Amino acid sequence: MASQHRKLNCLLVSCCFVFLLPLSTSRPQQPSIASKVNEHYRTFHAENPEWTFNHLAVDYRNGNVYLGVVNRIYKLSQELDVLVSHQTGPEDDNRNCYPPRIVQPCSEPLTLTNNVNKMLLIDYRANRLLACGSLYQGICKLLRLDDLFKLGEPFHKKEHYLSGVNESDSVFGVIVSYGDSSPDKLFVATAVDGRPEYFPTISSRKLARNSEEDGMFAYVFHDEFVASMIKIPSDTFTVVPDFDIYYVYGFASGNFVYFLTLQPEMGGGPAAGSSSANREQVFTSKLVRLCKDDTAFNSYVEVPLGCVKGGVEYRLLQAAYLSKAGAILARSLSVGPDDDILYAVFSKGQKRRPKETSQESALCVFALKEINEKIKDRLQSCYKGEGTLDLAWLKVKDIPCSSALLTIDDNFCGLDMNAPLGVSEMVRGIPLFSESNDKMTSVIAYVYKNHSLAYVGTKSGRLKKVSDHMSVLVQYCSSCL
Ligand SMILES: *[C@@H]1O[C@H](CO)[C@@H](O)[C@H](O)[C@H]1NC(C)=O
Ligand SMILES: *[C@@H]1O[C@H](CO)[C@@H](O)[C@H](O)[C@H]1NC(C)=O
Repeated sequence: MASQHRKLNCLLVSCCFVFLLPLSTSRPQQPSIASKVNEHYRTFHAENPEWTFNHLAVDYRNGNVYLGVVNRIYKLSQELDVLVSHQTGPEDDNRNCYPPRIVQPCSEPLTLTNNVNKMLLIDYRANRLLACGSLYQGICKLLRLDDLFKLGEPFHKKEHYLSGVNESDSVFGVIVSYGDSSPDKLFVATAVDGRPEYFPTISSRKLARNSEEDGMFAYVFHDEFVASMIKIPSDTFTVVPDFDIYYVYGFASGNFVYFLTLQPEMGGGPAAGSSSANREQVFTSKLVRLCKDDTAFNSYVEVPLGCVKGGVEYRLLQAAYLSKAGAILARSLSVGPDDDILYAVFSKGQKRRPKETSQESALCVFALKEINEKIKDRLQSCYKGEGTLDLAWLKVKDIPCSSALLTIDDNFCGLDMNAPLGVSEMVRGIPLFSESNDKMTSVIAYVYKNHSLAYVGTKSGRLKKVSDHMSVLVQYCSSCL
């Protein structure tokens, strides 16, 4: 992922949203750049240019901006004035030291190491920020939203360590609330950086209200046979030595929690033993779905996502965002205006070469309902005994589906048979817009007067506003300031 790392270290806001131009319906296929605006920006730079930006969270209640960068967490006003800054690094560490350090002292030499922010979540119910870093095999701080005062930093138990991976775009967390009577949960999904026995790739944790509580981040359920986690089996690494799952995005919707991943394809390269230098690893983008209430992870389902435009396949997920359809896009997707729509940016092909010069990427939309429908169909056919579990990274041996007399409804959460399950057929998104000169790397979207509008950020630092008529309305450029 490092090669695709977005080295952003400047944040800008502007009040230029009024530059919205009339939506053109006459030439929908012709992307036209209507205007270029680069005035009246407010900008924010970290004190040190090497402290690249990792994550951004905005408090929807007051517009305060929280920014996770290498070695710092910042709280900024809506105008990007620094209100508070909190130091997270650098500290003496060694990536080969295993936690917890108070139990198991480390004999490796320690060096001053950067703390990359891997996860930044606002916990609204407890008025705190959850900020997880790369130092010490991935520990988290709980910071008060007001002043970034440290409320807690659990590190005395094995489950307090999320993984030592220092790539900020390979980890994603989702906080799930269940109402006032029961405590919240944190779903954590992370690349494991070659340590699959140590860190689960996906798990659900207890998110205690008291930041100093002993059970903070404990697995929701854990006994000898069943646990609310999935680890990548070591067999997988004999097939693909550098196997890992990169979590690009995540969200909760209805009864489910979803993650969007990029992962090596198991059948993609030659068998074990061949040199990895010559191997051209093929990647697939997949959506992972789990029931919010499933403590045994029997509901785990994986489905490949991709997009095809003009005969070109876009299969490498770069970024995604959950939004609502809006009346106009809803009509063309045959869904309701308030239905969930997933915006996703993919780059071309399935091979991630570090020196890849191709800038080709596409912005596509998926109706979440349609993805759920495909999953339901596959669950039903597997329970009729058709096909195999089809999840090569988790079950290297192909396991046939077992039949059981069962009708699968929309909220089916799995049994201890036929699980976890993979869907083999790719769900295709509907392409809205493609770009061949400046790769798209980020996306957000919203509904404005029945129209769906998306902002995409590009590798060179441009910001484009894209409408549901597939045209670029406005282009902003930060690098031209
Ligand atoms: C992440 O770790 C690698 C390997 O230890 C190191 O080369 C790289 O500089 C680290 N990244 C940051 C931002 O510190
Ligand atoms: C949005 O769509 C609804 C239903 O089609 C319509 O009643 C309403 O007038 C539209 N609003 C605008 C601002 O176009």
